[in-house]
Amino acid sequence: MLAAAAAAKNAACGSPGDETGDEGSSDGSGTSVTTSGSTGDTPTTGESTTGEIELPSDPFTLGTASGDPLPDSVILWTRLAPTPLEPGGGMPPEVVVVEWEVATDDAFTDIVTSGTADADPTFAHSVHVDVGGLEPDSWYWYRFKIGSYTSAPGRTRTTPARDAKPEKLRFASACCQSYTEGYPAAYIHMAEEDLDLVVFLGDYIYENAATGPIRSHGSPVVFDLEGYRARYALYKSQPELQAMHARCPWVFLWDDHEVDNDYAGDLAGEGEPDFLLRRAAAYQAFYEHMPLRLPPPTGPDYKIYGTLHWGDLATFWLVDTRQYRDDQICGGEPGGACPEWPTYDGTLLGDEQETWLQDGMRDSDAIWKVIANQVVFSTVNFGGTFINFDQWDGYPVARQRLLDFIAGEALENVVILSGDLHVGGVGDIGAIAEDEESPVVAAEIVTTSISSSSIDDAEAIGGLVAGLKRIRHFNAVSRGYVSNELTREQWAIRCFTIDGADTPTSPGAVEIELFIDAGVPGIRPE
Ligand SMILES: [Fe+2]
Repeated sequence: MLAAAAAAKNAACGSPGDETGDEGSSDGSGTSVTTSGSTGDTPTTGESTTGEIELPSDPFTLGTASGDPLPDSVILWTRLAPTPLEPGGGMPPEVVVVEWEVATDDAFTDIVTSGTADADPTFAHSVHVDVGGLEPDSWYWYRFKIGSYTSAPGRTRTTPARDAKPEKLRFASACCQSYTEGYPAAYIHMAEEDLDLVVFLGDYIYENAATGPIRSHGSPVVFDLEGYRARYALYKSQPELQAMHARCPWVFLWDDHEVDNDYAGDLAGEGEPDFLLRRAAAYQAFYEHMPLRLPPPTGPDYKIYGTLHWGDLATFWLVDTRQYRDDQICGGEPGGACPEWPTYDGTLLGDEQETWLQDGMRDSDAIWKVIANQVVFSTVNFGGTFINFDQWDGYPVARQRLLDFIAGEALENVVILSGDLHVGGVGDIGAIAEDEESPVVAAEIVTTSISSSSIDDAEAIGGLVAGLKRIRHFNAVSRGYVSNELTREQWAIRCFTIDGADTPTSPGAVEIELFIDAGVPGIRPE
């Protein structure tokens, strides 16, 4: 494929913009497109020439996406990959020019802005366009074009103005979409909702070995950049996932499986040399496949945490509990407490991020203060007899410090979002983590997995958790997501579950609806 494209390029001698593609072709036949060394919206560091090359087939196999919305801007994403599972995605090693359009209608009769961007092989021919000049609190449609190919249209929106007083926000929280353990059928249902936003809480890909109970990755454990790219391409090829990206903007956290199971900071989950090289490759591939309002990483460090404001209705602090954490204590494997556990003062957020979070929450005028985080915050260690050291239970001093801050500042309407465990749960958070009688100061909504399998001994653990006073709802066995509807008076939590992730068309329904009243800490069952 590359040889054919290179030959076509060498044969082509058109000037920039003089596209000679086979217009109207979208059936897999080739099309000539323009290469460029000019600067665009994507950083350009790869080899570039000005001329034309030929694409062998539709390059929009991975769909499109939008994310990180602001009142006047949103990031549009695509990645050109005619043959996405091959090295290089089937693209020649050239910078190519992609056109983009933003309209107020899905027929693109009212185009409000458009432009071109470079797709650089240095970043897997991904495209990140920062579209500015948009109206706040408004819906738009976008699409990309290259040669004779046009992407499917996507729908996106801006956030309300920073000083606006919105009446409503509807968003889904989702996480954990293992390809080998199931189909992302939950997205079919999510796409039928009229959501403003998706908050993705991590485990967008799994780096692990080839085969699971439902499907095969077709490749072994991932360690290098090409491997991570191919893994993202496999996941992004799923039509259910593409369809949900086309419905609204997403914002992202990562958890461990975007890099390595249970990794902690610069420590691999199972110890391996050169882990930071692997982390750098994984972080670059994450950038390449997400609509991030960030420059690409230049090494193993990548600051992705940040805020999202929805007028004064809600502020999300999207935190990173992987990159800056200390190692899991007591050997890391779930089990009983070791002597060091009760006073272990390891950090999950790192000092800088923790200060940033506290400063932001202290100064916030948002009605709903949302900490979007990867791992479960609630106390579920059964008196220290069974502890998952990878979640906040394993970092007891850091957790209590955050609780002391929330209680000390008398912050209202604090809601913590988490995922990771492939269970669904809703609960109250007490001011003292280990005291079930302490006053409620926050609520937690644990999102179950889109497709990843249940935890071991799910039924038994479900029975144990049901006995915990703080936990208002727990489902250890179902796949799905949480649909959240926020108003100025109330947060409605709708836990949506599907019958199973073993088919791409699994039926589903809202399993339970719970509420939080503004100004009243904790969960109100209806
Ligand atoms: Fe997961």
